[in-house]
Amino acid sequence: MDYFQLKNGELYAEDVPLERIAQEVGTPAYVYSRATLERHARVFRDGLSVLDNPHLAFAIKANPNLAVLKIMANEGYGADVVSGGEMERALAAGMPAKDIIFSGVGKTKDEMRRGLEKSIGQFNIESEPEGIELASVARDMGLQAPATLRINPDVDAGTHAKISTGKAENKFGVAIDEAPAIFGRLAGLDGMNLRGVAVHIGSQLGMLEPLEAAFIKIGALVADLRSAGHNITHVDLGGGLGVPHKEGDQYPTPAQYGAMIARVTKDWDVQLMFEPGRLIPANAGVLLTEVIRVKPAKINPYVIVDAAMNDLARPSLYDAFHDFAAVKPNGEKMVANIAGPVCETGDTFAIGREIDSVSAGDLTIFRTAGAYGATMASTYNSRPLVAEVLVDGDRFAIVAERINPETILAAEQVPDWLTS
Ligand code: LLP
Repeated sequence: MDYFQLKNGELYAEDVPLERIAQEVGTPAYVYSRATLERHARVFRDGLSVLDNPHLAFAIKANPNLAVLKIMANEGYGADVVSGGEMERALAAGMPAKDIIFSGVGKTKDEMRRGLEKSIGQFNIESEPEGIELASVARDMGLQAPATLRINPDVDAGTHAKISTGKAENKFGVAIDEAPAIFGRLAGLDGMNLRGVAVHIGSQLGMLEPLEAAFIKIGALVADLRSAGHNITHVDLGGGLGVPHKEGDQYPTPAQYGAMIARVTKDWDVQLMFEPGRLIPANAGVLLTEVIRVKPAKINPYVIVDAAMNDLARPSLYDAFHDFAAVKPNGEKMVANIAGPVCETGDTFAIGREIDSVSAGDLTIFRTAGAYGATMASTYNSRPLVAEVLVDGDRFAIVAERINPETILAAEQVPDWLTS
């Protein structure tokens, strides 16, 4: 459930008409609803309340806006981060360092050092060489790095190939059959406090079965590691729950997810950790955009909006469906293609879709845009970097300024030797 609803024939974000935001901020702009973010954060927590004190780390890659992180921090979430930049954001939002987990295959020594300096809670190691490096950085600082080993369970998550992470051929984690030996070698290193394992098999998952299959394998691995004498106290089960993009979409609920985990992990006796991303912000955000014009075409007309693939990359990258709606629907429908102004065919949001009938100057939204939306935006075609707005009841604030092409141009220089 979200708070982007029609009231008296026009779309509101909570108690603010989207038209007002367009007038004051311009378009395109991402609009987030605080009430929806908080609701989703609580629904996820409630779904896991069947577990004993789970650790919740918001995968901030889904939406790293500082104001959004502040809301997540207030809701008691820590952060799953995958870069030094994300770590600084989590800290800037007031998330306690001990609640930060550092994931990712390419952590640099500088990032490791900074994480250790700040005493972050955990590093999820993705390979043996990375573990050796982390132990050596920690040893040089006179520290022990708290860590888990990320396991690649070779499970097909049944999602888009570009966001599947748990198949043997994916770059993530160590192969499950090699894990006991690698764990044994890393656990013995000075500077390393290897205390458990981590798994994350992919994103936008529509079924619990692949997750359950992966977790069952992890349970067996934990038992093996214990019988080899290792002290396993932490297991990180990642994120991945998918979200509905249109009416009628069926996705597992956090309560069903929690019940499955309670069943699978009942004998594990570990601190369970979670890294939910998309689930919380996706339907708490829309991309507000204006129709530039409707271009007649041979098969269907093209609705050309002022948002493009540089603002919302998901349709172009993953063929993702984002529901499209008029801010003031006139009750009529049309069949159209929807595209942005960027000069490539990939800049198409929908083909032959039945949508609210719109014409030049109308305001519209793409739904389910609060996750992996603004954070993946670029300035391709020298377009502005999109603005972000947070609504709270009847008030709103710009939480990320639009960055105009002039500002970006100002950071570029022509070397002397090209001008002389
Ligand atoms: N933990 C790890 C280690 C991850 O790699 C990810 C996402 C998550 C947690 C959070 O997963 P979520 O709950 O959001 O599914 N840009 C793509 C999604 C990439 C996800 C990458 N990893 C998209 O727009 O669909």
